[in-house]
Amino acid sequence: MSKFFKTFLKHAGKDYHNQSVNPPVVRASTLIFNSIDEIRKTQNKARNDPLGGHFSYGREGSSTIFALQKILRTLEQSYQVFLTPTGFGSVFLSIFSVVRPGDEILLSDSVYTPTRLLVESYLNEYNIKAIFYNPNKISDLKKKISKKTKLIFVENPGSNTFEFQDLSKIVSIAKKNKIFTAIDNTWGTPYFLQPIKLGFDMSIVAATKYYSGHSDVMGGSLAVNKKAFKYVEKANKAMGLRLSPDDGYLITRGLRTLDVRLDKHQENAKKVANFLSRNKKILEVLYPFKKNTQRYKMWKKYYAGASGLLGLKIKSKNKRSIIKFINSLKFFGYGYSWGGFESLALYQDVREQGNRKFLNLKKNEHLVRIHIGLEDPKDLIQDLKRSLKFIK
Ligand SMILES: Cc1ncc(COP(=O)(O)O)c(C=O)c1O
Repeated sequence: MSKFFKTFLKHAGKDYHNQSVNPPVVRASTLIFNSIDEIRKTQNKARNDPLGGHFSYGREGSSTIFALQKILRTLEQSYQVFLTPTGFGSVFLSIFSVVRPGDEILLSDSVYTPTRLLVESYLNEYNIKAIFYNPNKISDLKKKISKKTKLIFVENPGSNTFEFQDLSKIVSIAKKNKIFTAIDNTWGTPYFLQPIKLGFDMSIVAATKYYSGHSDVMGGSLAVNKKAFKYVEKANKAMGLRLSPDDGYLITRGLRTLDVRLDKHQENAKKVANFLSRNKKILEVLYPFKKNTQRYKMWKKYYAGASGLLGLKIKSKNKRSIIKFINSLKFFGYGYSWGGFESLALYQDVREQGNRKFLNLKKNEHLVRIHIGLEDPKDLIQDLKRSLKFIK
């Protein structure tokens, strides 16, 4: 799979028309035509061939966006890919496309906190009920399905706690009950996991992270199968979501090296995870690298690799000493987004996790999230070694 990816990413989307290797940025609100007849012809083509890139207005896209959609369609092995201004826009679009008042959504308890807030404190105003299941217990998911369940929304691995779920089982339960499925696949990207092939109806990637890879772009992609396409197309039109051609261009450029960067993130993260797991101050490294663990087994069953984002569970009565550990790191920046070339560290305050029911964090246990970048791993390990001494 990754062999195909590597060559495909280097050769896809070449622009022989403009003679530029990358598809150029076509910025446009008005798309102009030679005649009124030509506008109508284009609109008819769009109706008969919705994947064909027949645009009559800038909000529908331009050739820059069409080129990126085509590349992502192949990577995702999906029917279509919708592009949104942020990753969260794709989360929002997936949910709003299929859920209606009176419906219930089942979500893994460790979804990204803004996803939780969207369903908990916004959708409930529309009489849409969010129910959270334990991501470590498929029986809990089964138990919570009702006649009203319209969508199962999975994030894999779980945000901050990095649980890996049995994805095929979730898909088969959903299919049996005629429930839509969506997955947030930002951590793995289709380089490591192709959810549409597994049977998911919708798959989200925050392009802000590894796709663009340089911490200077925001965007999202929502890959869909044929069944979900008509729902998402209708909602997307109604909402008027559109990725800017400039950001689309940068995401296409980032994708050229997605494989190379993710291979290196993985190599570095494994080295760091192994180092950290030998340190007595770390209770657990939340990363799929230790054989015979549930996390590893579930990861191995579905993923072709692991990216650079991981968690640390640390036990200490002294929270300030953990903050001091983080603050004294020299090669780790402090900031929210991840998936760029640089290493990052964050203290994950329990309050920021939202109202999680299955957080499984005992008294005096703390979560730290680190993103392992493309620096020399020896420098990162030295940095961590020096700073870990501050934990009391
Ligand atoms: C797993 C996950 N999904 C979605 C998003 C949202 O992406 P964006 O920040 O581009 O809206 C994030 C951002 O941190 C994320 O971590």
